Parts: sequence; C-alpha cells; structure tokens
Amino acid sequence: MPESSTKAVPAGIVEKLQSLPSLPQAASRLMQEVIKVDADMGEVSRIIQSDPGLVSRVLRLVNSPYYGVRQKVTTVEHAVGLLGLKAIESLVLSLTVFDVLSPSKQHALDLLRHWQHSISVAAAAKYIASKTGYKVPDEAYTAGLLHDTGRAILDICAPDELRKVLEALGRSGAVAVEVEREIMGVDHTGVGEFVLKKWNIPANVCAAVGLHHAESLAGLKDKSGAALAAIVQAADFLAWANGLGSLETAPKVTSTNVVEKALKGIDQAEVFQEMVNELQKTAELFGVAVPDRDELRRALSMTATELGRIHTLHRDIEGRLARKTREVEAVNILMRRARHTYNKSDVVKVLMDAVCKGLAYERAAFFDFDQDAGQIKGAAVVDITSMPADITRIVLPAAKPESPLGKIIQTGKPSLLLPSEGENGLLSAMESTEAVVAPLAAAKRIVGLVFADNYMSKRPLTAADLVSLSVLVEEAGLAFENAVLYEHAQRLRTMAETDALTSLYNRRHILHLLQNEIYRSERYRLPLSLAMIDIDRFKGFNDKYGHQAGDRVLRSFARLLKKTSRNIDIPGRFGGEEFLVILPETGVESSGVYAERVRKLAERLGARLKDRYDECSFTISIGLTSFNEKSDDMNSFIHRVDQAMYAAKQRGRNRVCAL
Ligand SMILES: [Fe+2]
Ligand SMILES: [Fe+2]
Repeated sequence: MPESSTKAVPAGIVEKLQSLPSLPQAASRLMQEVIKVDADMGEVSRIIQSDPGLVSRVLRLVNSPYYGVRQKVTTVEHAVGLLGLKAIESLVLSLTVFDVLSPSKQHALDLLRHWQHSISVAAAAKYIASKTGYKVPDEAYTAGLLHDTGRAILDICAPDELRKVLEALGRSGAVAVEVEREIMGVDHTGVGEFVLKKWNIPANVCAAVGLHHAESLAGLKDKSGAALAAIVQAADFLAWANGLGSLETAPKVTSTNVVEKALKGIDQAEVFQEMVNELQKTAELFGVAVPDRDELRRALSMTATELGRIHTLHRDIEGRLARKTREVEAVNILMRRARHTYNKSDVVKVLMDAVCKGLAYERAAFFDFDQDAGQIKGAAVVDITSMPADITRIVLPAAKPESPLGKIIQTGKPSLLLPSEGENGLLSAMESTEAVVAPLAAAKRIVGLVFADNYMSKRPLTAADLVSLSVLVEEAGLAFENAVLYEHAQRLRTMAETDALTSLYNRRHILHLLQNEIYRSERYRLPLSLAMIDIDRFKGFNDKYGHQAGDRVLRSFARLLKKTSRNIDIPGRFGGEEFLVILPETGVESSGVYAERVRKLAERLGARLKDRYDECSFTISIGLTSFNEKSDDMNSFIHRVDQAMYAAKQRGRNRVCAL
C-alpha cells in the first residue's frame, strides 16, 4: 500500500461522520472477496444475490446494449462470468456508494453535477489506465468514481461548512482543497480516504483518493499505488478541462507534472468521447439524468473553448503540437495576407481560405449578420468538396435567442451546431450534419458568422476543432476591424478631397495635385499643361432659371469633363462655374486638341439643354497654357492660365485661347 497522504481529520468532522450510513453489507463482503488472490466467482454471485436491488441492476447492466450480449442474461452467475470479477466490483461499489451518498434532502452540492463528474473521471481513468498499461483498468474506474467521495460525504455530514467553502470558491476562484483546509481544517481528499478505509475499500483505491490533489507523488514506494493516483489526477484534470467539473463555479484548474506525465501519448479527444459515452451508458443505471448527447457535446465544447485557451499548455503534447503548428501557420498566413487587405470582403476571403486550408475543414462559409434587418445572409464560401453551394442564396432570419444559433450570436462564443437541437435552419440550408460556428466580431460587434464543417467525410467535430477555429476567427476580427477603419478613413478622405456637387476634385485638392505634377514635370522633364474652363454667362442662366437648374447644368458639364478626359488628366472644380484640368505629359499642341474637343462637346451639350432652357445658350471659354520650368512656379502658372481664359472671354467667348 502506498503511503497516502492520510490527513488528520479534525475531531469535529469525525464526530459528524458517525452519522454517515455504513456501506451495505453486501458491498463490504464483496470487497473482501474480490481482493482475495483466489476470489471465488460462486461466492461473488452469492453475495450479489443477497441484495435484490443489486441483482436487478447487475442484470440490467449486463443486458444493456453496451455489452452487446445477444441472449438475455437471467442469472447472476452468468452475469459475473460475462463481466468479470473486477467489473462486478466496480459496478457494485459504484452503485452502493451512490445509494449511500444520495439521501433526499437539501444539499449544498449539486449532486447531479457531482455524479456526472465522478462518472466522467471513472471513464477517463479506466481509459488512461488501459492505454498506459496499468494492470487493473477496472480498479482505475473505481478510484475515479470514488475520488471526490469526500465532498459528497461532507455534503451529508457537514453541509454548513461545505456551503461556506462553495461560497468562498465562487467568490475567489481559488484552489478548492486549499479553501477547504482553511475553512474546515481538512479537505475532501482526507475525508474521502478516511471514510473509504472504514468501508474496507481496497487500499490502492483509498490511497488514490487521498492523493488525487497531491502535487507530487514522488517518493511513494508502492509504484502501482502511485500510478493509480496519477491516473486519477489526470482523469480529474481532463474532466474539468472538458467542462465536466463537479462544481458550478469552476475553481482554478491547474495541471501538474503528474498530470502531464500521465497524459503523455493519450488521445484526449478519445478520452472525451469515453466520458460522454459512459455518461450516456450509466445514466439509467444510476438513475441520473444526463443531457441529450448532442446537447452535452455542444455545451462541453463551449466550456472547452474557454478552458482550452487557458490550459492549452496541458493538452496532449503530440496532438497539441501538430494542431498548434497547423493553427499557428493558418493564423500567420491569415495575418500576413490580411495586412495587405484593406477591404472587408477580402478579409473574409482570406479567412475562408485559412479555415479550409489551414485548419483542414472541408467547407468554410461566411454569413453577414445584419442586426437591423434581423437576418444572416450568405456572403462567401470556400468549398473543397467540388459540390459548391450557392451561398448568396441563403438568407435566414436571425435565430431566436434560445436557439443554438441565437446563443452564439448572443454570447459571442463559438459552438458546435448539431441537428438534434431545436431549430437549425443554417444546418439544413447548408445540407450539413454538424458544423462549428464562430461569430466574427469587429469592434465588439458581431458582424458575421463563420461556418465550417466536414461535409464529405463527416469526420466528427471536436472541442479542439472549436478552439482552433475560434483562435483564427478572433485574429480575423482584428483584420476586419482594420478594414472597416481603412474604409472609413478612405470615405473621409474622399469627402475632404471632392466637391460635393460635381464629385470632381475640389479646389484645395486640385491645387495639391497640381503641385505634385509640377514636381514630376521638373524632375522628369515632362511637359505639363493646364486648362481653365469657365461657363459662359452662367450668372445670367442662374438668374433666369434658378440655382437648382444651375447646379444641374454644372453636374452635366462635370460628367462631360470626366468622360472627355484621359485617365492621366485631372479635372477639378476650381470654384463657381470655373473648372481646372491638369494635363500631365501634354504639350501645347496636344492640349489645344483636347481643349477644342471639350469646347465642341460643350456646344453639343448646349444644344441639348436648349430644349429645356430655350432662352440661354450653353458654351464655355477655355484658357490654356503650358508649364515653363525656367520661369514658372505654381502661382505664375495658374495666373497665366487664368489670363488665357479671360482673353478667350474677351475675344467673344465659346473659344480656346492659349498663352
Ligand atoms: Fe477532487
Ligand atoms: Fe474531482
């Protein structure tokens, strides 16, 4: 027997423990029999038969679909033969301890949660034991099932003290055993070990219960006892990390070297699956209500996402590395590409790519979430299944808050979507069987939903899938936020640079651009010309037809100017009815051709306007000049083009005049 950490249980608590019911005779006798080297199957069967409650439950278990026994087993002997002595021991022990510790009165402890946790730890411990070569996996099951017995016992014998502990834990989130020791002078490992010993539970199990929160197991002489304690610690850690803790307020869950060592090479996704399976299987046997399988998976994954972030360090080393590498690569690619992405839809495209190629989902889709319209709308999809869906056709009303999708939107947390849960329009619209959905938030607002699934292979999604997706989507949220800011800045810039009426550049900006063009022309010795255009007798037009009509004409002419100009030409509104066009890389002759073309087109515009405004004729006068790098600066350049325009006016309007 290993030297366990048997703690002195304070006299006050011991006294209270006297009121604890003793373990039923049958269970005690069974313990004695099973630990014998030459345990007798016949004797074990007889002990079970002495307790009618046990008989019916043993038979129910052996006939459950889990064991797949074709012919109905009707005798205890047959059941014992099929299940084996150790399985029978675990079963009987579990059932009786469960009965003893579940009296019907007000509890400080959430007993349902407590037993769900115990069963999960039992299943995980058995799995880890069988994978690590521990000689009696069923013993690990028993130890797992009983590891927190101390807490259930305190719940019966010292409920007030336990309540104080739970309250303190809720407030501080401290380490549970430390708070217990502080308030009661003993923790649940000590109480558990103390009582289980009294009940003649095998020594290894008692020791493991006593040591299941010990930080070090070094120095224990009994190697198998130490191994069992390590297995229970690891199983306990995994249950907590997967959202199957025993308390509503999650105390600090920390991994230790013991846990790290015990979990080496263990596939944690499989452990999780084992826990869920066992909960389903034993629910009926223990009379414990267990949530529906899918609901459980979804809820657990949600918790796992949070815990996964905090405790990534403690995840399975190999699996973790492989996944992390993939995740980090995907995030890196995403960030590299997102850095050069300045619009939202490009960020989404990059994200979809990262989800599919980086995280190896078969499909990734993005849905815009429009809070005001109350709907989600398909926007982008990356699909490697060669069965692409027309995503933009999918428009769904925003889900009700209590639906799975509604919860994702409300809480902002990613989740699994499974078909069995309430209304699931998104799954059916995507013809999917299960998916992970993560909300994309930018500036704390949910702007869309990222949907990912394994459409073809139907590879089941796990909590780990959810963790990696949420890491990626969080990064994308930042890129998205940047794109929003960039677009906003662009809009502001455009507003500052353009003339609201004509959408041409305004005076300030056209002067700024002219200065740039002058530098360019000087540096590269390129010709540069300038055209100043003024609408003839515009004041008279305004007086006659009003400013609104005047504005319409200005807009028409601005459109004409834009259409007539080459890509490199820069037209702007200089003020009132005056326009300035910068003509880069253009000499005197070419600028003359340009100006004459504009003048003629303006004449044609005038002919069209005549239909509406018959008393006015619309023409323009254009001044032209070219930059002289030896004698000009910007002011003289503009002054000269202005003079040229005046000359055109003086010579009778509707003409081009170059200076
Ligand atoms: Fe515990
Ligand atoms: Fe526990």
